[in-house]
This record gives sequence, structure tokens and C-alpha cells, in this order.
Amino acid sequence: MLPVDRSTSYQPVLSVNPYQPHTARIVRIYKMVEDNYLFTLRFVNEELARSFRHAPGQFIMLSVPGAGEVPISISSSPTRPEVLELCVRRVGRVTNALYRLKTNDLVGVRGPYGNGFPIHELEGSDLLFAAGGLGMAPLRSLIWYALDRRDKYNKITLMCGARTPMDMLFREELVSLVDRTDVTCLLAVDADPTGTWQNHICLLPSLFDHAEIDPGRTYAAVCGPPVVYKYILKRLLDLGFPKDRILMSLERRMKCGIGKCGHCSIGYMYTCLHGPIFTYWDAINLPEMI
Ligand SMILES: Cc1cc2nc3c(=O)[nH]c(=O)nc-3n(C[C@H](O)[C@H](O)[C@H](O)COP(=O)(O)OP(=O)(O)OC[C@H]3O[C@@H](n4cnc5c(N)ncnc54)[C@H](O)[C@@H]3O)c2cc1C
Ligand code: FES
Repeated sequence: MLPVDRSTSYQPVLSVNPYQPHTARIVRIYKMVEDNYLFTLRFVNEELARSFRHAPGQFIMLSVPGAGEVPISISSSPTRPEVLELCVRRVGRVTNALYRLKTNDLVGVRGPYGNGFPIHELEGSDLLFAAGGLGMAPLRSLIWYALDRRDKYNKITLMCGARTPMDMLFREELVSLVDRTDVTCLLAVDADPTGTWQNHICLLPSLFDHAEIDPGRTYAAVCGPPVVYKYILKRLLDLGFPKDRILMSLERRMKCGIGKCGHCSIGYMYTCLHGPIFTYWDAINLPEMI
């Protein structure tokens, strides 16, 4: 079993001390959904702001002064550099402290960490994205990376699900993709209390009934809560997807982010080093990975 190829990921921008974060300014805070805000950061050091690079699927360790540090996926695409967009759900101590900050306040950033998606391996293939809930946070970087380099990929299909239209992260952006002719964008909500939703009203896996997918030439990138993995993986396997063409972004509790503390281990692998992007093949060979 081989972990996802790391050759396309970027190494962290190091200070003398690997735990020392770089200072970044919050330049924009956008409320997408209640308790799910999009934070745009820019490094205070202009040279670092211009030179920082990441691969889609990599994450940073974000520190909020006085509260602590948490791993957060980079939601922006490397094709749109100089700022980092982070989609953060408010759940506890650190994320609550982040939500108390305002535009122009300072935070700390270490990274980028993790393997990221194997972007070169994906070139020339069809791509299928399936995201539920906060799963859009890591997938959005790869989605825009592929759309900004459209000629490098064949067919692109995007499936995204949420409970209601008001719960759909990046809703305006996703709805704007529905009319594009070079991508099949299928959006589903479980229910539409507003009565205004003009896309699908069904569960996310039912979107497969509206898509034409050739498993032999497609890579699937999947991210969402456990229920999404359960039903999306079943549909992919029923279609005959090879297990090493199903890519997933997985989360584990992390402390150091650099393979030192062991907090994120699954079997002999560290999510912060060998992940967070794993193939389904990895997942079935490691205990309790999903
Ligand atoms: C590689 C990676 C990428 C991530 N990307 C994002 C992202 O883009 N956006 C985002 O909002 N969150 C992301 N997370 C999750 C995020 O790190 C946690 O929500 C955060 O650490 C919570 O910190 P807190 O101090 O606010 O909450 P805490 O006070 O530590 O915890 C509050 C509650 O959240 C639960 N919790 C905390 N961390 C996790 C976790 N990793 N998985 C499941 N439950 C958890 C706790 O059990 C507790 O119930 C990512 C995690 C990893 C490992
Ligand atoms: S978070 Fe410390 S080893 Fe992964």
C-alpha cells in the first residue's frame, strides 16, 4: 500500500523554530452560513505573501492569540495566490476566539502541511468532486485549481449537497457554475423550506442518477461527514471505481502538524504527514480511518 504521492506538495515555510508561526492579517471576513465564515488572510511580510505556495488539499496550523492552534484546510486555489482563504466552522475554544476577531486583526500561520491532492497524476483524467457540508473546505481549492487550468483535465463533474439552500457553503459560487458548459455542476438540498431552490431536491448520492461517469477514466475526490463517505463510497464502488482512484480528505485531532507528537496517527501513518489526502485503498488497509 502506498500513500498518496507527496511529490506535488509544498514544504512549510520555516522560521528557525518550526513551531513559530508567521504573522498574517485578516483582510476579509465573510459569513457564508451561520457559524461557517470565510476568513481571508494575507501574510504581513510582503515577500512571504507573494512567495507562499501550497497544493490543493494541504492545510495550515492557524493560531489565534491567547486561544491556541488548530489545523485548517486552505480553501483557496494556488492559482489565486497572495491570500489564503479559510472556511472555518465555529465549534469550540479556538474557533470561537477566531470568530471574536475583526478585519485587520492578526493571527499566526504555520505550513503548508500534508500531502495535498496528487495534481499531476490527475491531469488528463475526468474529475468527479463530491462534497457534503464542510467537505467543500478542502475540495474547493482543487475545484478552482482544475477550473483555472481547464485544458489540463477532461470532463469535470461536481456534486455538492447540503440540508437546505441556506446551509450550502459557497452557494453563490456553486450556483454560478451550474450554467457553465465546461463543467457539470449538480447541487442538491435535502429540503427547501424557502421554495426558491432551482436545483435538485434529493440526497447527495442521488445526484449520481443525473451524471454520466466513466469510472475507468475518472478520479473521484470526496469529502464530507461520515454519512457522505458511507453512501458516496458505496455508489463509487458500485460503479466500479478502482480503489486507488478514490481520494478522500480525512481529519484527525492534531497538535504539531509536522509528524512529531503522534496525535494524528492511524496505524503507522500520520495524518499530518501521509495525509490528509488518502485513497480509498489506504483507508481499507488502516484501522478506523473512516
Ligand atoms: C487536516 C485538517 C483540516 C481541517 N480543516 C478544517 C477546515 O477547513 N475548516 C474547519 O472548520 N475545520 C477544519 N478542521 C477541523 C478543525 O481543526 C477543528 O474544528 C478545530 O480544531 C476545533 O478547534 P476548537 O478549539 O475550536 O474546538 P475544540 O474546543 O477543540 O473542540 C470542539 C468540538 O469539536 C470537536 N473537534 C475538534 N477537532 C475536531 C476534528 N479535527 N474532527 C472532528 N471533531 C473535532 C471536539 O471533539 C469537540 O466536540 C480540520 C482538521 C484537520 C485535521
Ligand atoms: S499532529 Fe503531531 S504527528 Fe501529526
